[in-house]
Amino acid sequence: MIYYINTYGCQMNIHESEKLAGMLEELGYTPCAEEKDADIILFNTCCIRETAEQKIYGHIGTMKKLKLNNKNLIVALCGCMTQQEGVQSAIRSRYPYVDIVLGTGNISMLPEAINKVRANRKNKVFDESYIKGSEDAMPLTRTSAPNAWVNIIYGCNNFCSYCIVPYVRGRERSRSMSDIVAEVKKLVAEGYKEITLLGQNVNSYGNDLGDGTNFSKLLNEIGKIEGKFRVRFMSSHPKDLTQDVIDAVRNNKNICNSIHLPVQSGSNDVLRRMNRRYTRERYLEQIRAIRESLPDVGITTDIMVGFPGETEQDFQDTLDLVRQAEYSSAFCFIYSRRKGTPAYSMENQIPYVEKQRRIQLLLKTQNEITKKLSSQMQGKVYEVLAEDINPKYPDTYCGRTENGRLVNFRCDFNPVGQFVNVVVEQARSATLWGRAVKED
Ligand code: 5AD
Ligand code: SF4
Repeated sequence: MIYYINTYGCQMNIHESEKLAGMLEELGYTPCAEEKDADIILFNTCCIRETAEQKIYGHIGTMKKLKLNNKNLIVALCGCMTQQEGVQSAIRSRYPYVDIVLGTGNISMLPEAINKVRANRKNKVFDESYIKGSEDAMPLTRTSAPNAWVNIIYGCNNFCSYCIVPYVRGRERSRSMSDIVAEVKKLVAEGYKEITLLGQNVNSYGNDLGDGTNFSKLLNEIGKIEGKFRVRFMSSHPKDLTQDVIDAVRNNKNICNSIHLPVQSGSNDVLRRMNRRYTRERYLEQIRAIRESLPDVGITTDIMVGFPGETEQDFQDTLDLVRQAEYSSAFCFIYSRRKGTPAYSMENQIPYVEKQRRIQLLLKTQNEITKKLSSQMQGKVYEVLAEDINPKYPDTYCGRTENGRLVNFRCDFNPVGQFVNVVVEQARSATLWGRAVKED
């Protein structure tokens, strides 16, 4: 019995696919390299932007042919797209060959659902709810060693006016601190070298537990764990990132000097209408405080262009903020209209061509900054966690610096999974090139 998983979307989904793989392997399934060989094909979906959704529907459509060739093939859908209004009925009517639909919080039902379908091929299991707690305590097949993902909080309470996530992933649910610390300890003992703590807004961690737990306390506990490893976390909401978190990053040597702080827009009017609950001035002040506390920090962000009513001046304000913040990199998005969100019905939706013009300008602006920061790294030595053989140039390796920059480098032994010192020799825009050097 063989499985294949298609993963769309963010790190959260990549990690959820590791849970899906873990459950399938417990049932006796093994992975394969090509969809056509599989007995079960899973789609771990994402609905944050329309482009992803269209791609997924197109891909599900191709299952019809595979099903004709293999009557026993099981097709299952999970992930946040399945919890959008109307998706279930659309799947039932347009894609009748889908056997299983699960939500984001009840993926632990997968084995039961598969058994039902296997018992009688006419059975279908459609249950897209999210249920507190059922996200945890399931087998895992980790796929990104030496890196490992750890969920700390599920869901989101923020209701940014453009965003579908709070509707499809439910309210915030924190895992217990002892569970998280135990998981990180186990991963370190197993040899994982970089642990990324995941949440839509990690800074809300603990708010729902009501026992005084918070994110900086969690970081300080994780910081006490012995061993040579790194910790990262994402994402932080600027309205909730507090100095005690920045201090925890500074005071714990295992926690990386790296902060992902999505700004979304540099215009106060747009930020207000996005319901982000901070101003550009407060955000820039936060950046200044982070840089003061954490020299050599890498700050990254998410930015959106073309939010309804975004004027040319609003957009210029975003470009100006990007220049001031000096991000080492930025995920830049075109606003995507999501049904069910307040921004969906806002007036003055921006035409596609204009959104395209803005994103090109934004990308150009950020590239110039990345280039400038890269050239400042030239000639310096950085500790890099070697993650893999470089797929494009197999005689080189790739890894990341503590502040999150990707480096390709030569090394006269295979360093994958180890920390190595690398001197940066060439800075080509986003990618840095170098060679491993011996420690003093
Ligand atoms: N359109 C475009 N980008 C979006 N994001 C969230 N919702 C939308 C949307 N409707 C982006 C935000 C967020 C990142 C994960 O995805 O920038 O930080
Ligand atoms: Fe969406 Fe805002 Fe929650 Fe992030 S914080 S998941 S952008 S609602």
